[in-house]
Amino acid sequence: MNNRTIWWNYSVNCIEMIDQTKLPLKLDIIKCLTIDSLIDAIKSLSIRGAPALGAAGGYGVALSSFSYDGANVEELKNILISDSLKIKNSRPTAINLSWGVDRVLNKILREKKIEEIRKDALNEAERIADEDIVINKMIGRNGAALLEDGDTVLTHCNAGRLACVGWGTALGIVRSAVEMGKDIKVVACETRPLNQGGRLTTWELMNDGIDVRLITDSTAGMVMRKKMVDKVIVGADRITKDGVFNKIGTYTHAVLAKENGIPFYVAVPLSTFDRSKREEEVIIEERDADELRMINGSYIAPKDVKVFNPAFDFTPIKYVKALITEKGVFNTCKLVDIIKND
Ligand code: MRU
Repeated sequence: MNNRTIWWNYSVNCIEMIDQTKLPLKLDIIKCLTIDSLIDAIKSLSIRGAPALGAAGGYGVALSSFSYDGANVEELKNILISDSLKIKNSRPTAINLSWGVDRVLNKILREKKIEEIRKDALNEAERIADEDIVINKMIGRNGAALLEDGDTVLTHCNAGRLACVGWGTALGIVRSAVEMGKDIKVVACETRPLNQGGRLTTWELMNDGIDVRLITDSTAGMVMRKKMVDKVIVGADRITKDGVFNKIGTYTHAVLAKENGIPFYVAVPLSTFDRSKREEEVIIEERDADELRMINGSYIAPKDVKVFNPAFDFTPIKYVKALITEKGVFNTCKLVDIIKND
């Protein structure tokens, strides 16, 4: 194991990842030897978070090429195309998943030899993973400049190293600021129903010795009204021309932040930008009803109650003070220009 969230195992030629469904109780590593097992890992959120899904998508194309045991290049290319589609469809909202798949697929479809396809697919997937850490550190540096010594940052879900290959976006900013010697505290929202904030954000910050306090999602309004936080920083699953898709509950925090005069920032790599779409054109994943009806295998609601369980929501851009990217901090009234020129 290394200190990444996802990586390639060169002795078996498969993908390995931290199983995020087991944290914080157990640090388990799982192997994905087939495309079906990778898709299970993505759907069950063993691997999750937009940038980590980008790496999973890239490694997935490499895995597809290594899983092929025939000798016909055209047949392999057809398999690569159909596996790519299956991976991309496994979670529709975070654009990084299809971005990672397409980046690797586009690199190899003109190759003429199976060995070349495998080598180039894996190299490109590794480049995506390596770049993710470099980009997050650039986001971290750019964002850390906005934090003052003594600030408390409220965050939602997990936009940390577990949501990426390493370092993190929103939490990467906190890490960079702490590394610069600033005293920064974090308030982590629980993030019902799957508790990425309670399980993952707390775990990774505490491992790094960064001060973190857990609150329920519904406590966010109170802590903002009482000015117990100075800034809100979240990640993103997709930036469209008109706003930000991120974990369900983000919109509520953005509105509360504006109401209480607290700056609301989105930390995001340029790979999360979707230059072509608007809010209504993006599919918001709806997840299983039992995520709300049950906890740890026991019902906490009537077992046949009707449920609405969207994984993400949309925050109109007017609520966002700035987008913190690897290329700098962008005031969002210019979002359309940023999308045109990045
Ligand atoms: O359903 P998840 O856990 O994949 O949702 C993750 C989020 O919404 C994150 O905030 C987002 O991907 C940004 S991660 C840097």
